[in-house]
Amino acid sequence: MKTLISAPELQAKLDDLAARISEDYAEMNPVLVCVLKGAVFFMADLARRLEIDLEMDFMAVSSYGSSTDSSGVVRILKDLDMNIEGRHVLIVEDVIDSGLTLKYLTKNLSSRKPASLEIVTLLDKPGRRKTSLPCRYTGFEIGNEFVVGYGLDFAERYRNLPYIGILEQDESTAGP
Ligand code: IMP
Ligand code: MG
Repeated sequence: MKTLISAPELQAKLDDLAARISEDYAEMNPVLVCVLKGAVFFMADLARRLEIDLEMDFMAVSSYGSSTDSSGVVRILKDLDMNIEGRHVLIVEDVIDSGLTLKYLTKNLSSRKPASLEIVTLLDKPGRRKTSLPCRYTGFEIGNEFVVGYGLDFAERYRNLPYIGILEQDESTAGP
């Protein structure tokens, strides 16, 4: 595993994002929507830094399985518990790759008439985008490489790494 973004670099970026979001969403009582499972650590570390009233909810959508390419097919596996009508919604995502997942998600959540709908993503791969997608807050722009750690997986492995790493050849073929 090659380290792309170290744990201290992640934490510094979180401080930075949290300061901006706390300022922008003061008095708005936003609903943070975590996209499971990849964004769990990001959501937890971000939310505990936000010095504002907020609520949290979780959504799960079908993702990659064990392949590394997007199918473009998105299915809701777990929907929100909350009604977001009239609420300020901030989607918390781990990585935007093709953008297809969030394109679908933003369309779906928009139809529920939130007061506002924005995205914060830890990682962005602009070189892989297949659809345009406005994202308000981005942690790091990275290249087209497949990354794991800090919530991101390859076939459900490596989510627990405290840093973002680039998977090397043997690590994507060997079993646990
Ligand atoms: P998109 O629909 O192509 O933008 O894919 C978004 C989802 O694919 C993300 O929320 C991740 O779950 C997954 N994904 C995309 N790139 C990576 C990666 O480099 N490592 C792990 N998961 C990824
Ligand atoms: Mg994800």
